[in-house]
Amino acid sequence: MSLHTDIRRVRAEFDDRLKAVQARLAAGLDGSEHAEQLRIDFLGRKGAVAGLFAGLGALSPKERPAAGQQLNALKEAIAGAVSDLQPGPSQEDRPSAPQLDLTLPGDPIPLGSTHPVTQIESKIKNIFARIGFSIYYGPEVETEFYNFEALNFQADHPARDMQDTFYLSKDLLLRTHTSNNQIHAMEAMKPPLRIIMPGRVFRNEAINARSHCQFHQIEGLVVDRQVSMAELKGTMTHFARELYGPDTRTRFRPSYFPFTEPSAEMDIYWGLETDRDHRITKGTGWLEILGCGMVHPNVFKAVDLDPLKWTGYAFGMGLERMAMLKWGIGDIRLFFEGDLRFLRQF
Ligand code: DAH
Repeated sequence: MSLHTDIRRVRAEFDDRLKAVQARLAAGLDGSEHAEQLRIDFLGRKGAVAGLFAGLGALSPKERPAAGQQLNALKEAIAGAVSDLQPGPSQEDRPSAPQLDLTLPGDPIPLGSTHPVTQIESKIKNIFARIGFSIYYGPEVETEFYNFEALNFQADHPARDMQDTFYLSKDLLLRTHTSNNQIHAMEAMKPPLRIIMPGRVFRNEAINARSHCQFHQIEGLVVDRQVSMAELKGTMTHFARELYGPDTRTRFRPSYFPFTEPSAEMDIYWGLETDRDHRITKGTGWLEILGCGMVHPNVFKAVDLDPLKWTGYAFGMGLERMAMLKWGIGDIRLFFEGDLRFLRQF
């Protein structure tokens, strides 16, 4: 028998077996074992193709190359057909491969939001920055001198009382307002001054929906020659209209603060339409938003500025109050609890 005939015979046998396996697969039956057996019988170490290769040695050196080529071609054809039978790796067989659907929308990255008090603070800073004010920060831990004495509070002023002020030691306390920064600023910088001073303040108060032991203020101070009450009123009115809208109406009521003379409180007209309007304006339609006044001569004297030469005005407002009004928030405690359900709304 020539090698050529052997090749044809093996090829025919293989084709028969292949057809049988293909028929199983086409019928939806499991053909994997049959396919594997086919591979072993023809391509295995003792398989039919290996047997043919063994016959090469009996050929003459002249015949061998051509016969070798034919055998290689047969082996490749059989290997190709067998590997076509094997199903590709299924999804379940590849547990390590992540199941990716690149058309799905991505997971949202949670974004933080700016705290409502921070939002109000930056709005107010921007309004004043646009009319030439710069920003100054001072300490939260303070002495009686900066928090009270230099601001013309008398020694027996009730605000100095342990009931209202957190004392850390005999002389150190937590500032009760940002007005302490007026003194620091005038000591640190030569007038003319035009500054706002934001910060946290502390008062020894029972915590409830309307008051807290900590809150935030923004203080303002202008010192120059011949600063007038008219300039103070004009600046405050401009500020209210920038924050609450161009049609905002303002009024000034006389008031008292130890560090200003004369002193005033500014109200904005809030309206009297809803029950809520009635409640928060106590039936007047007007809402107090800040305290202000002309810098008291004693304050200038405390920082060695000549009150005959220098004039000025100051103002101060509570940021939580501004935020509560802007967003209709009814409870000041919400600002300090860090509750994400509250904070995510801003
Ligand atoms: N310091 C005052 C307070 O805590 C607020 C204030 C009122 C500040 C009048 C001022 C001012 O600068 O002129 O209630």
